[in-house]
Amino acid sequence: MSRIAYVNGRYVPHRGASVHIEDRGYQFADGVYEVIAVVDGALIDEPRHLERLAYSLGELKIKPPMADGPLRIVMREVLRRNRVRNGMIYLQVTRGRAPRDHGFPKSSEPALVMTARGAKPGRAKLLANGVSVVSAPDIRWERCDIKSISLLPNVLAKQAAAEAGAYECWQIDVDGYVTEGSASNAWIITDKDEIVTRAPTHDILNGITRRAVIDLAGQEGLTHVERPFTLEEAQGAREAFLTSTTSHVLPVVKIAGKTVADGKPGPLTLRLEGNYADFIKSAA
Ligand code: PDD
Repeated sequence: MSRIAYVNGRYVPHRGASVHIEDRGYQFADGVYEVIAVVDGALIDEPRHLERLAYSLGELKIKPPMADGPLRIVMREVLRRNRVRNGMIYLQVTRGRAPRDHGFPKSSEPALVMTARGAKPGRAKLLANGVSVVSAPDIRWERCDIKSISLLPNVLAKQAAAEAGAYECWQIDVDGYVTEGSASNAWIITDKDEIVTRAPTHDILNGITRRAVIDLAGQEGLTHVERPFTLEEAQGAREAFLTSTTSHVLPVVKIAGKTVADGKPGPLTLRLEGNYADFIKSAA
C-alpha cells in the first residue's frame, strides 16, 4: 500500500510529496510541529497536543493553518488513508512560502504538512532491558518550550548517542544540570520515593507524556518534584527513566557510562510504565 501525505490542502503520494523551496520552514526552520501517538485508532492526549501546537504557533506569531475541528478531521483522514491504527501522526506548520527575507513576510499563508507512520517494532526489548544514555552540553536556544522544527542541536545530540551505541543523549546546561534528552524528557527517582524531573520553564519542552506521568504518579500516591538534577545525581539515583510520545516510559539503566543501581529497569519505573500503558489503552 502506498503512503499518503497531506500537503497544504491535498492528499498526495508520500513518495513525491514536496513543498516549495521558498517555504520558510525549509529556509529558516520557521515553523513548529507535533507528534501524536495513535493507539487502536485513537489519538492519545489529542487536546493537550493541540493546545501545545497553539502555544508554539502563538509564541512565534504564526497563524494557525485551520481551526482545531477541521484539523482533527484531516488528522483522522491521514490515518485512514494510510491505514495506521497504531503508530503516530506527525504534523508540521510553517510560516509558509515567501521570497527569502529574515523578517516576517507581509503576507504568507501558513503551510501545513502531515504524515502518519506505523509503530516501530522493538519497544518490548527496550522496556525489558532498559536503555543507556550519553550526555552532551545543551547548545540549544533559550525557548526550548516551543516545539520548533529548528532541531539541529537535537539532531547532533541524538547522533552522538547513536555513535556511542546509546538510545538517547541527555543535554547538560551551563550550570551542570540535565535539561532533557534530544527528543524526550529526563527523570530520576530518589531514595525518598520522589519522582524528579525538571520544571517546565523555557529550558525544556513540556512533554505531553511528562504531564501524563505526573498525573499518574499523583494517583499512585508518589511524590513528584520539579527541580533540576546533575548527571552525577542521576548516575547515583535509585532509578532513572525517560518519557516521550514515541518512547512512552522507558527505564534508563546506564548514564554516561555508569550503571544506575543494579543495571536493571527499576520497579517504580516499571509501575509507572504499566500505569501509562493502561492510561493509553483506556484512551483508545
Ligand atoms: N519529541 N523533549 C524534546 C526535546 C522532545 O523533542 C520531545 C518529543 C519531548 C517529549 O515530549 P512528548 O512527551 O510531548 O512527546 C521532550 C518528539 C516525539 C519528536 O521530536 O519526535
